[in-house]
Amino acid sequence: MVPAVARPYQPLHMETHRAGSSQEEEPAPHEIKMRIRHLSAWYGTCRALSEITLDIPARSVTAIIGPSGCGKSTLVRCLNRLHEEFPGARRAGRVFLDDLDIYGPLVDPIEVRRRIGMVFQRPNPFPTMSVFDNVAVGLRLHSLARGEALAEAVRAALERAGLWKEVRGQLHRSGVALSGGQQQRLCLARALAVNPEVLLLDEPCASLDPVSTMHIEELIRQLKETHTVVIVTHNIQQAARLADYTAFLLHGTLVEAGPTAQLFTRPADRRTEDYLAGRFG
Ligand SMILES: Nc1ncnc2c1ncn2[C@@H]1O[C@H](COP(=O)(O)OP(=O)(O)OP(=O)(O)O)[C@@H](O)[C@H]1O
Ligand SMILES: [Mg+2]
Repeated sequence: MVPAVARPYQPLHMETHRAGSSQEEEPAPHEIKMRIRHLSAWYGTCRALSEITLDIPARSVTAIIGPSGCGKSTLVRCLNRLHEEFPGARRAGRVFLDDLDIYGPLVDPIEVRRRIGMVFQRPNPFPTMSVFDNVAVGLRLHSLARGEALAEAVRAALERAGLWKEVRGQLHRSGVALSGGQQQRLCLARALAVNPEVLLLDEPCASLDPVSTMHIEELIRQLKETHTVVIVTHNIQQAARLADYTAFLLHGTLVEAGPTAQLFTRPADRRTEDYLAGRFG
């Protein structure tokens, strides 16, 4: 397993590392899980993203930051093919999951979304389903488990999401009868149940109180041991606390990306410095 420590990071030129036999004495960089290349996105004629090129390192947390409307949610929705579900939406450019071009002609978007799970800003358990069924839904959809194996997979997902102890006696209660923080962990369990490799979290703590927020942050720290996590956040402190890497977007373009400590202490671009200092956004 790749240790979850910041290592040399080259956003655009990983090919040199792959090919590089002359770099044996340097620590290996984080393996790259997703590669975004010249990604643009539109809603009708309105362009929301322009030519984004970015690498997402494996088994680490990458934060996407930037002011409201800069394209953070659009970007993460392009990473698991949710963007195309909006009427009139389109994209150009490529996104790779390992070596798979997720927009390739033979690729099933449902399978992409199984491998790249998502949790949204507002907890959105299926309102007519029980706690159990909310977690089981993806396992049933993909025919991944039945009977005892299904029950075990649901338990394991709830445990990973830090919710099992609180709901073990009430699995048949409605998912929406839980508290907001519990509902968000239920959504995390639902996403984890189908064993995704990447988790996209779009402001997962925005509607939560500080205690629930800390709980989710602790879970994210644990999850990055096994998963690649991309988190959109408005909260600069949250990015600083959680993220190994940070990408700063402005008006649909990527201003800069790199190890969080470097971006926060020595930003390469004046606009990043101004944003981090609270001068706009
Ligand atoms: N469904 C949609 N239809 C049309 N335009 C949209 C849609 N969703 C987003 N946009 C537009 O795309 C641009 C980027 O929006 P996006 O939601 O990605 O920004 P964001 O950075 O996530 O903002 P916020 O921080 O407020 O969530 C904005 O100009 C927005 O108005
Ligand atoms: Mg958003």
